[in-house]
Amino acid sequence: MSDFEAMWRDLSPLGRSSATGGYFRTPWTAAERECVDWFHDQADARGMATEQDWVGNAIAWWRPDSVPSTGEGVLTGSHLDSVLDGGAFDGPLGVVSAFAAIDILRERGVPATKPIGVGLFVEEEGSRFGLACLGSRLSTGATTWEQAARLRDRDGVWFLDALEAAGVGPGKASLELQANVGCFVELHVEQGRDLVDRGAPVGVASAIWPHGRYRFDFTGEANHAGTTRMEDRRDPMLTYAMTALAANKQARTAGQRATFGRVDVHPNGTNAVPSAVTAWLDARADSTQHLQAMLAEVERLAQDRARRDGTELAITTESVAGEVTFDPDLLRRIATGSTGGRRAWPVIPTMAGHDAGVLSSAGIPTAMLFVRNPTGVSHSPAEYAELVDCLAGVEALADTLGRLAT
Ligand code: GLV
Ligand code: MN
Ligand code: MN
Repeated sequence: MSDFEAMWRDLSPLGRSSATGGYFRTPWTAAERECVDWFHDQADARGMATEQDWVGNAIAWWRPDSVPSTGEGVLTGSHLDSVLDGGAFDGPLGVVSAFAAIDILRERGVPATKPIGVGLFVEEEGSRFGLACLGSRLSTGATTWEQAARLRDRDGVWFLDALEAAGVGPGKASLELQANVGCFVELHVEQGRDLVDRGAPVGVASAIWPHGRYRFDFTGEANHAGTTRMEDRRDPMLTYAMTALAANKQARTAGQRATFGRVDVHPNGTNAVPSAVTAWLDARADSTQHLQAMLAEVERLAQDRARRDGTELAITTESVAGEVTFDPDLLRRIATGSTGGRRAWPVIPTMAGHDAGVLSSAGIPTAMLFVRNPTGVSHSPAEYAELVDCLAGVEALADTLGRLAT
């Protein structure tokens, strides 16, 4: 059994639901902390020195003797948290592959002249506190701790209380990524079918689409479902329903993406017109301008509908990430590298968000490798990658890290 398979076998049961087969590795809960413990065990087993910050972001460093201990590190890794009922590969594939790639480099005696780190970023999905890539945003300064301290999860738990309850710490104020990391390469399962269509097990990312998350608060009037005449209602569910349809139509006609995947209804009773509906829009587009234009049009249609329904709508932006173009020089070195006479890997854009985007925006030269996903399904228990493709990804990562660190 390869190192990759052994690690995958150990990690796979953690946080898996027996009901759905999907994963609930929600940040700073027991299941996700088990994954984090697994990470530290892997680092310890390899004699890698681990540093951790105050929220639990961590880097396990492999520093061959004679390699200076600071600066210009080559960082890889990913995240171990999941969306609610997520897949096994989104995040963990990058972490497991990182350790496996370092094992290969050590076995082959690759003469690294720079330290190589395996990074673990917390709350990448934003599934608990709503802010995508919260860990990497905190570690690069894109989000301040004062901003994070104002976040609450859906049960009303404050961010700092969640950290304390999870027993995170002690840790450094910051991993000082901009000072210690010369470049970052994140390997990730592909979340589409581009590589299937191209017949390639591995690809390289060119760019990440801009991405926004917006909270829509619709308010109306609670009333009796039987006695209230249809024309007398102020039903926020109707305004929400029309808004969801409008967002879908806007995105489809413009070739962009819009999703309402989370809704809270109050009081959520079968026989009452609701008083309030809160829904979250996840919107992505090929440029910031198109993202803003789509949101403006959805808002216009939603407010127009609210006037007709006698309801009210307030929209709050919870997070916006701009377009990311990965480092062209790094991309060229990775995609056209000449090791082993292999053919070049295809270069593809992605509509998914990643810590790699945050590090890139912080000025760290960054690239991503994708591993083929046969169905393209992701953020679902059905997410999958064949073992042979995962191992090709490990080889590609080892090849890349070896070239960047020597
Ligand atoms: C993270 O995977 C995202 O794109 O939302
Ligand atoms: Mn994800
Ligand atoms: Mn991910």
